[in-house]
Amino acid sequence: MKSLTELLAEWDKARTPQMAKVSAEVLEAIRRHTPDGAQSGIGNYYFVRLGGTEGLPHYARLIAKALVDNPPDVDVILEAGAGLAELPFLLSAEGFSTCAIERNPYCFKAIEDLRGKLSAIYPDFADRARAYFGVFPCDIEGVDPARTMLISTCLMFTSTQEQEDRHIEGMMGYHSIIVDVARLVRFRPHPKDWPAIERLFLDAGYREVRVIQEYTSARLGDGGGKVIWYEKA
Ligand SMILES: C[S@@+](CC[C@H](N)C(=O)[O-])C[C@H]1O[C@@H](n2cnc3c(N)ncnc32)[C@H](O)[C@@H]1O
Repeated sequence: MKSLTELLAEWDKARTPQMAKVSAEVLEAIRRHTPDGAQSGIGNYYFVRLGGTEGLPHYARLIAKALVDNPPDVDVILEAGAGLAELPFLLSAEGFSTCAIERNPYCFKAIEDLRGKLSAIYPDFADRARAYFGVFPCDIEGVDPARTMLISTCLMFTSTQEQEDRHIEGMMGYHSIIVDVARLVRFRPHPKDWPAIERLFLDAGYREVRVIQEYTSARLGDGGGKVIWYEKA
């Protein structure tokens, strides 16, 4: 596994053509939607990003780079638990059709705001970047799971085990999946628990296409991140 220094260099290198512009718009959107700091409805998760220079988290940058370099053979890329939809919107700025699903009304308001700003920059952006206020799993008009890539990264659930199980079960019908097995459910499971979460996807008939990112850090109490791209075998 890579050291943190190697990872920082890798995250910094993960650039796509539209990333700087979208990242700056995301930071502006966070600023507009956290007038009361961390107490605002979109939450501390976003507020802390204002202390840095990037509107996009490192794993979103790595995922976007992987997909721009190796476009998946799907019609739509769907993110379940999209937050401010920064990743799907970056992907739409790069030319992909995307859909963001988000259940938090404060985040959804920020999504619509950001969508408006990016539509003014990129022609046809609104046609390529859809946003859906709701709870995943759910049916979405025009989205055929057999022709869709589903992304779920950092959900940081305050959910019951039953809700988590429903979320994972709902992921399984999709042609391809990108998932952070360290942060999807059970709030930052320890690396020793990652194989059990990976096993859920392998047992459901997926094969690993590639590991987009894998790291552990003592600063996270030996937690970390492991983002895997799966496809139906
Ligand atoms: C911590 S944020 C992360 C956002 C983004 N995916 C990222 O990794 O930066 C997780 C978001 O997922 C949303 N969420 C969690 N479970 C969801 C579900 N079942 N359906 C829709 N949204 C969900 C939460 O409301 C929250 O805004």
